[in-house]
Amino acid sequence: MINKTKQTGTATLNVKGKDIEFPIMSGTHGPDVVDVKRLYAEAGVFTLDPGFTSTGSCESQITFIDGEKGILLHRGYPIDQLAEQSGFLEVAYLLLNGELPTQNEFREFAGLVTQHTLLHTQMDRFFDGFRRDSHPMAMLTGTVGAMSAFYPGAMDSSDPEERNLAYIRLIAKMPTLAARIYKYTQGQRFVDPINELSYGENFLRMCFSVPAEKYKISPTLARAMDKIFILHADHEQNASTSTVRLAGSSGAHPYAAIAAGVASLWGPSHGGANEACLNMLREIGSVDRIPEFIARSKDKSDSFRLMGFGHRVYKNYDPRATVMQKTAHDVLDELGIDTPILRVAKELERLALEDDYFREKKLYPNVDFYSGVILDAMGFPTEMFTVLFALARTVGWVSQLNEFIEDPSQRIGRPRQIYTGAAQRDFVPISDR
Ligand code: ACO
Repeated sequence: MINKTKQTGTATLNVKGKDIEFPIMSGTHGPDVVDVKRLYAEAGVFTLDPGFTSTGSCESQITFIDGEKGILLHRGYPIDQLAEQSGFLEVAYLLLNGELPTQNEFREFAGLVTQHTLLHTQMDRFFDGFRRDSHPMAMLTGTVGAMSAFYPGAMDSSDPEERNLAYIRLIAKMPTLAARIYKYTQGQRFVDPINELSYGENFLRMCFSVPAEKYKISPTLARAMDKIFILHADHEQNASTSTVRLAGSSGAHPYAAIAAGVASLWGPSHGGANEACLNMLREIGSVDRIPEFIARSKDKSDSFRLMGFGHRVYKNYDPRATVMQKTAHDVLDELGIDTPILRVAKELERLALEDDYFREKKLYPNVDFYSGVILDAMGFPTEMFTVLFALARTVGWVSQLNEFIEDPSQRIGRPRQIYTGAAQRDFVPISDR
């Protein structure tokens, strides 16, 4: 049940000589908020906050982040406990339903997801329309949106059962879609899911098995895949999640809203950062070149930034980066890979954390810093990284979308602006211009 905030005080704003009182609301954790819903009605002014650095858009019970302390909780559970002790589908159930599943609930949920992993066969024809060298995120944006044409039944978002089916389908079909995108870029035959395999195992097999050979699933890699999915499952009101909520606020089809989220995630400041980070680590290439790149990232005349460093919310270690670093070691050990990239990453992290510039600006490694190293070692091309992120984040997106739809206080999203364009003027016919 949403609407659990409590009023714990008032804030008075003086607008052009008139005092107006607003309620201060408190949640479970985190800073209080000033509820300014009545501001325009009472004072005739809006707030201006580009980038929403001081603005909350909703009440949510899904994820909590304390960026100063480096804490990330899903439904109250710390991310490191979830990553170490649970599985991705268990976390998916938790995010969607609010509580960890009992064994029976989990069996039913996992069974339902497994039953919906196949794609409509006509979906396969979409791929032929894409150039072989299309960016995988371009294909994902298009094909997720296209799914809305295959499952129009889920259009009635006021029906909780239809909604739930749409969410299950999205969670189930994303790995199949992502694996097909990978196979298409490689010019290889599509591989269908097998029901007896786990979510992570199925995905690895759909990506890396070929008809000519028996595919042996490594439990270490399957577990690492699962952990990567858990670490990317949700992250509160970031750009792509807010996009999904905003797109869904008009009553848009859930697949279309998720496609909007995929598009938003694509950018290098968001989901595209792990791709950019690995490219950067490769470009650095060896430990001796690190100081040159650190110097460039501090130089205001150079647009270069240390990718995988810094975060809008975390002003401390991103707790996901800690799990990711350990997983990177597990995967590289399992595969027997001794790559200079991991050495460069660890030394870059060490040097940047000792550097006053990064310390003063509270720039720490984020989740993307090590994820690229792992995915690269597993055999995924860099262009696929954001697709894997989108696959995992789908769980967060559908949970957030559902919360939005169930929240009676939510309306169509419609930010305001301050207009600084031309003042009103009369039209001049083209013959007189
Ligand atoms: N390298 C060097 N300097 C940086 C970096 C960086 N990676 N990140 C921020 N800074 C500096 C900025 O130049 C700015 O300096 P100034 O105050 O002297 O102008 C200051 O730190 C604050 O940076 P902002 O861009 O204002 O912070 P914001 O919160 O808007 O940006 C962001 C956060 C986009 C993540 C930024 O840190 C960045 O570009 N990092 C690299 C890209 C990255 O890793 N993105 C992944 C984010 S995690 C995710 O989406 C899953």
